[in-house]
Amino acid sequence: MTAIFGSCEMLAEDFPLSEEQGPYLSLIKSSAGHIHHLIEDILDFSRLEAGKLELRLEAVDFAALANEIIELLTPLLREKKLRLSTHFGNLPLVLADPVRLRQVLLNLLSNAVKFTSLEGNIEIAAKAESSILLVEVRDDGIGIPPEYQGEIFERFKQVRQLNPKGTRIQKGTGLGLPISRFLVELHGGKIDVDSIPGEGATFHFSIPLAP
Ligand SMILES: Nc1ncnc2c1ncn2[C@@H]1O[C@H](COP(=O)(O)OP(=O)(O)OP(=O)(O)O)[C@@H](O)[C@H]1O
Ligand SMILES: [Mg+2]
Repeated sequence: MTAIFGSCEMLAEDFPLSEEQGPYLSLIKSSAGHIHHLIEDILDFSRLEAGKLELRLEAVDFAALANEIIELLTPLLREKKLRLSTHFGNLPLVLADPVRLRQVLLNLLSNAVKFTSLEGNIEIAAKAESSILLVEVRDDGIGIPPEYQGEIFERFKQVRQLNPKGTRIQKGTGLGLPISRFLVELHGGKIDVDSIPGEGATFHFSIPLAP
């Protein structure tokens, strides 16, 4: 992968590409990005299943971590004209592996972006309750039928849904939520979903507070 990404960078920087060549280079880069993500997900899932993934726990500022991810997603949010609001207040630190907590939140937010139509709304809320932080990611997208709500945390489970144009909605592998559940549970937390089809979905998870 490094060779592919490196060669793309070199091509882009060192050689003037024609108008016809440019889009092909972008396609190579974005496809390589998808493959990279897929390989990472498959590896993570295998490590988690084998009990070989170790967390590097530290005191983490959840709001700061969430804001970093939101910044990363800004181009995608703009593209779909989605509004994203946060409700954090003054939060105590959590005890988490920042890389893995980022992965969970990014998975949930990417799903919220993916399954919400143009000009939709996404909200992230977090509040401390006794020894845990409760996080909610809400969207007003297509939602999930009740019979699927338990299954989507199983690997490769995707709801077959069609958008108004009659085409398959998505793209993806069906590993994001199983990995997220594994990671949250490894932290000692829980993750679940509430949804009304057609009105949206709310994913909520808990993470222990730092002592
Ligand atoms: N916010 C959401 N709104 C509606 N459906 C959702 C939402 N999040 C997840 N789903 C449903 O749950 C399925 C599984 O989600 P998951 O994140 O595991 O996989 P994916 O997004 O399809 O692929 P991947 O995350 O591996 O790229 C999705 O395919 C979709 O059908
Ligand atoms: Mg996903």
